[in-house]
Amino acid sequence: MTMTEQHFIPKEYKISKEKGQVTWESPSNIALVKYWGKKKHQIPENPSISFTLNNCKTITTLSYSKKESGNDFSFEVFLDGEKKDDFKPKIKTFFERVEAYLPFLKDFHFKIETSNTFPHSSGIASSASGMSAMALCLLSLEKLNNPEITDLYFYQKASFLARLGSGSACRSIEGDLIVWGETKAVNGSSDLFGVKYPYQVHEIFKEYQDTILLVDKGEKQVSSTVGHNLMYEHPYAENRFKQAHENLEKLKPILESGDLDQFIALVESEALTLHAMMMTSMPYFILMKPNTLEIINKIWNFRKNTGLHIGFTLDAGANVHILYPKNEAKVILEFIKNELVVYCQNEQYICDQIGFGANQIKE
Ligand code: DP6
Repeated sequence: MTMTEQHFIPKEYKISKEKGQVTWESPSNIALVKYWGKKKHQIPENPSISFTLNNCKTITTLSYSKKESGNDFSFEVFLDGEKKDDFKPKIKTFFERVEAYLPFLKDFHFKIETSNTFPHSSGIASSASGMSAMALCLLSLEKLNNPEITDLYFYQKASFLARLGSGSACRSIEGDLIVWGETKAVNGSSDLFGVKYPYQVHEIFKEYQDTILLVDKGEKQVSSTVGHNLMYEHPYAENRFKQAHENLEKLKPILESGDLDQFIALVESEALTLHAMMMTSMPYFILMKPNTLEIINKIWNFRKNTGLHIGFTLDAGANVHILYPKNEAKVILEFIKNELVVYCQNEQYICDQIGFGANQIKE
């Protein structure tokens, strides 16, 4: 049975609670096979797979109070305790997209208080952790009066709603490896929500490390949303989408066997392909910085000289995610500190590792 949007429209609802609050913390994630290009309604052009992260996360408290049901959404947003009216348009768009699935939104006034464990717009996908945390808070509200919903439904719908906020956010609800986008390569995969990677994964990936080098913390010149849209009429788009399916298929034996050389080759190729798509869009753009390339070259040299399993990936930004197994962490971290940190803005970097998804924080 293929699932459709219909599945997530609640049959009836009645929220009797007048007010309250709910808090979720939700992590960021880093894609190994990249999502780049989407259709209407946040449907991805190709499948992607990511490691859920552990330390980079957003903590969001949603306070709700009943109001006269009107024609407008009523909410205010705070980041680190400071009112953020410039976040409102994004959240309003999110509310509009999810209203059909959360028909109570206009019956409440919301206060959204959010904070990140990492710098905002650092190129770390704050939209992924932020939107997934929001989705979970709203769904907790639905659950109040539909307590019978199953965990499976809860997590699927949370991912479904998060996707409508930001595509990659649908991969942040659970861990540790999440697939989003329908593909023959992965049983049960869906365009509508992320699913846990269902096949065997080698021990070595269970505690995989991701050290994020903050090369450029400035606001990006080109947002992901604009970048995705440039995949329409892109001369290489069709081949790229096909390649993502193939790479997911290729990743299966690699994840099973723990062949790190092949893992690194596939993941680095995905990262550079993502940026190649940006450079060959019209208009074209470059999100890497000179220091991004310095770091990549240093990593390649170090790998050649030591035989250690250090590899990188990139998001839609200049920062470099360095991926490596935990049993090589000591030497690799030394190398990062001694040779790579000089290329970071204010020498900043974040040590993270594979994680297991969002958590509700009970009072
Ligand atoms: C390069 O999920 O930020 O990080 O759906 O427009 O919000 P929207 O885009 P977004 O795109 C992220 C793309 C990427 C690759 C990835 O995470 O798969």
